[in-house]
Amino acid sequence: MSELRFDNQTVVVTGAGGGLGKAYALFFASRGANVVVNDLGVSHKGEGKSGKAADVVVEEIRAAGGKAVANYDSVENGDAIIETAIKTFGRIDILLNNAGILRDISFKNMKDADWDLINRVHTYGAYKCTRAAWPHFRKQKFGRVINTASAAGLFGSFGQANYSAAKLGQVGFTETLAKEGAKYNIIANVIAPIAASRMTATVMPPDVLENLKPEWVVPLVAVLVHSSNTTETGGIYEVGGGHVAKLRWERAKGGLLKTDDSLTPGAIARKWNDVNDFSKPEYPTGPADFMGLLENGLNMPSAQPGEEPDFKGRVALIT
Ligand code: NAI
Repeated sequence: MSELRFDNQTVVVTGAGGGLGKAYALFFASRGANVVVNDLGVSHKGEGKSGKAADVVVEEIRAAGGKAVANYDSVENGDAIIETAIKTFGRIDILLNNAGILRDISFKNMKDADWDLINRVHTYGAYKCTRAAWPHFRKQKFGRVINTASAAGLFGSFGQANYSAAKLGQVGFTETLAKEGAKYNIIANVIAPIAASRMTATVMPPDVLENLKPEWVVPLVAVLVHSSNTTETGGIYEVGGGHVAKLRWERAKGGLLKTDDSLTPGAIARKWNDVNDFSKPEYPTGPADFMGLLENGLNMPSAQPGEEPDFKGRVALIT
């Protein structure tokens, strides 16, 4: 058996001063990679600033004989982070967009500042780091990106409207990177992790956290970003506590209606069972899949009032 190795490659890990980012940084350094340990050193709400978090991880890597450099920029300044990789190690191969903060508050009380800061760090930050790495990836015809979503983004979570929006944004971002990168051997995947960190320390009991070590998220990330993975791209993975599962979109049978004057609110209501019928689902992977459906609809007969029960089980007489 041989180790999965990353010798001579440079990995940039954002938010690598603690939690998941630190676990990634230590792992990739132990497997031969040069690691840029980026961390702004803020609180979990994004307050303050310190170089200490990154420095401690760099020291740990060097003490173990690995190669690492610290970077203290915010991910909003992605150019400077990628520049650190190029200046120090001459290349960038793998980018782990991991840095993150929370500004949890009920939607009723949410302020623009709560919304903006979350979106600046998660959405704009991942964009800036990836945008700076992209020309290098294209030129060398190799690049690997992991973006970090969250169950809060996939499913919604009380008090996290800002974070949910930003985190689901990482999914769409990844899907497009995967499509645009394919020609250049740039592979992009997105994970929704669950791990014990200061982010989860206050919301989960200690015995649950015991079983959610950040180190258990790392192996999936390693497999996805390794050069041997040339096919798995645009994937969404839930990972944590020893469980890894892929997620995908599912489309119901759907209501298909002729696009003429018969396409009324009542006609939609009478198609409600089809709209919600997941008994024979499809798994769309691109906008073109939807266009095919529309073409099928061209030869449909016009909708007839009162034909089918509506979503309340009545025969809808509304039009
Ligand atoms: P953490 O709070 O332990 O680590 C995040 C790190 O990012 C911190 O060291 C912080 O200083 C750094 N950081 C924050 N803003 C930054 C910025 N603007 N520029 C550079 N660094 C910055 O959090 P954890 O749990 O390790 O989270 C890592 C990622 O995983 C985040 O994106 C988080 O949203 C996501 N996530 C974590 C989950 C979990 O269960 N821990 C669940 C779902 C998603």
